[in-house]
Amino acid sequence: MKILIPGMDGYIGWALALKQLKIGNQVCGIDNFSRRRNVEEMGSYSALPILEMKERLKFLRETFGEKVSFFQGDLLDVDFTNDIVSKVKPDVIVHLAEQPSAPYSMIDQEHNIYTQKNNVIGTLNLLHSVQKHVPKAHLIKLGTMGEYGYDPGLDIPEGFFEVEFRGKKATVPFPKIAGSWYHWTKVHDSNNIMFACKLWNLKSTDIMQGIVYGTKTEQTIDENYHTRFDFDEAFGTSMNRFCAQAVIGYPLTIHGSGGQTRGFLALSDSIQCISLLIDNPPDDGEYRVVNQFDEQYSVLEIAKKIQNIGNQKGLNVEIKSKENPRLESEKHYYNADHEKLKNLGFKRTREIDDEIGIMIEHLLPYKDRIEERKEVIVKNIKWQK
Ligand SMILES: NC(=O)c1ccc[n+]([C@@H]2O[C@H](COP(=O)([O-])OP(=O)(O)OC[C@H]3O[C@@H](n4cnc5c(N)ncnc54)[C@H](O)[C@@H]3O)[C@@H](O)[C@H]2O)c1
Repeated sequence: MKILIPGMDGYIGWALALKQLKIGNQVCGIDNFSRRRNVEEMGSYSALPILEMKERLKFLRETFGEKVSFFQGDLLDVDFTNDIVSKVKPDVIVHLAEQPSAPYSMIDQEHNIYTQKNNVIGTLNLLHSVQKHVPKAHLIKLGTMGEYGYDPGLDIPEGFFEVEFRGKKATVPFPKIAGSWYHWTKVHDSNNIMFACKLWNLKSTDIMQGIVYGTKTEQTIDENYHTRFDFDEAFGTSMNRFCAQAVIGYPLTIHGSGGQTRGFLALSDSIQCISLLIDNPPDDGEYRVVNQFDEQYSVLEIAKKIQNIGNQKGLNVEIKSKENPRLESEKHYYNADHEKLKNLGFKRTREIDDEIGIMIEHLLPYKDRIEERKEVIVKNIKWQK
């Protein structure tokens, strides 16, 4: 199979490309390296050193030869996107190429507009290219569990649910009440993809993904194959950032009471799930939504796990509450379905505690790199100014 991965230079994209090559598929990547620039703008870098794409490709070609290709460019560039999709003619497109940080989108007007444009217009361009050149391809798009909002006051289904209103029943999309400009871009994408499937008979899987954690997968262990790992307030997701904090003895900074409950899954499990979806496409014209996470925890529960495991390894891990910069409930009902991927065969690679242990061990040799940029851990990006 030929897989096109816009966003191949990113945290998930790099690990996915390696996995897909390993199982014998052809991989073509696209990236504009904006993630590298945006992390730099935050004053940070990946805690695990990563190679430039040129060098990454050199190593890949030694093993996989012509099976791997890469194009530097921007999905906002209509001609570029059309050109690559028409040349590559992929069977599957895994679209990861978006600005993925909620705090980054909340910095100010400029960062909000950049995120909205980049994500919504990039996805629209890709949809038009698919319709023009590969209407039978399976478009897998990374959305987020945050699209539903974290406090809908109801159980969360996988995309659609049945409602009864004034005596009539219908199956409709579950309401989406996102909590940041970034999360709203994902909602807009979802609506556009759903409409494109209906309008042009495209097939797409829209993944509502939980928070991904982990430093490595089986394919990224060697330093030359590292995927990025961020720990700054904007791009370090809670669990990854906490592990980096634990390693340098920086108290784990929970927001308020830490009762915010979210779905989490390990990087290797994210890759496993996307691979399962590649192998099990929906029908032509079908817009399929899957909730992609393994287990749900509150932020405080996650912090306590990292504290226990860190302390067992001889670290001195403290937890400290700080004023919550976000607009969100700290105590709420949360129960989201996640059966579809299990029905396709998803099984977690390892228990969360074991993965945390592996992350801490992996980060320890890079302690000095994290220490050197520790001021990026708390930047106080506020939702309401
Ligand atoms: N990491 C998580 O916890 C998580 C959770 C839920 C959803 N997601 C989603 O999964 C996807 C991948 O996440 P990630 O953590 O790997 O992010 P990432 O930032 O590491 O990867 C995205 C890649 O896309 C590239 N990119 C962005 N805009 C582009 C454009 N216009 N043209 C070309 N390339 C562009 C970036 O340079 C980056 O390398 C994102 O859409 C993100 O919103 C991630």
